[in-house]
Amino acid sequence: MRPDDSEAAYDGFADTFAAEAAVSPYNAHYDRPTILPLLGDVRGRHVLDAGCGPGLYLAELVARNAKVTGFDQSTDMVRHARARLGPGITVRRHDLDNPLDWLDDETVDLVLATLVIHYVRDRVAALRELHRVLRPDGRLVLSTSHPTADWLADGGSYFDARHVEETWTGGMLHRYWRQPLERWVAEITEAGFVIERLVEHRPTPAMDRHHPHTYAKLSREPGFIALLLRPVKTST
Ligand SMILES: C[S@@+](CC[C@H](N)C(=O)[O-])C[C@H]1O[C@@H](n2cnc3c(N)ncnc32)[C@H](O)[C@@H]1O
Repeated sequence: MRPDDSEAAYDGFADTFAAEAAVSPYNAHYDRPTILPLLGDVRGRHVLDAGCGPGLYLAELVARNAKVTGFDQSTDMVRHARARLGPGITVRRHDLDNPLDWLDDETVDLVLATLVIHYVRDRVAALRELHRVLRPDGRLVLSTSHPTADWLADGGSYFDARHVEETWTGGMLHRYWRQPLERWVAEITEAGFVIERLVEHRPTPAMDRHHPHTYAKLSREPGFIALLLRPVKTST
């Protein structure tokens, strides 16, 4: 368990991320256009955004009349999300490496976990908590870095599984877990989910207009991967 008040990697970088992710090729033209259609009709549904960052997905969900709750490890990200969403929307500071003890069993219709699970040390435990809070007919939609992209960036064997550290432009120390697809699937199923859909992101035509080099790269090699997961519950 990690103390919830420990400093988070994104603290101090939330302003930059919030500004960039609103328009960036990887977020605005790649991840959100892939993930939002996977969520289906969210009207009146309780959606939990795990690792909500500055609240860009939460704002999309509120616009679609979902009832939302968000949380993030970073105080600065929580501040951004609260400012974006205004009063009446719950956004908490919480680390996915800790139990979601503030959420009862089977109270959530949909969990969204975009670009966050690769930061979590005990992914099976975290996914089990998301499984616990989901209703039997609920779904988890997650996106993460494509294992092939991590391999191309980090080198070694595709089958290596390890904690990677790199420093991003701007000085942020980026630490994430890299592992082959087989291991991701093993962790997801061990936590009690079955895969309904696996989607390899494709860049949008708008990315071609605004970011042609990234569009060309992401048209020939994968960057992110998305999964639509159904919780298997013993009662169903
Ligand atoms: C790349 S950003 C993605 C933000 C948002 N999900 C999106 O797609 O726009 C990753 C976010 O995950 C959060 N995060 C990283 N590790 C976390 C953890 N263990 N528990 C909760 N949030 C975490 C970071 O603070 C950051 O806001």
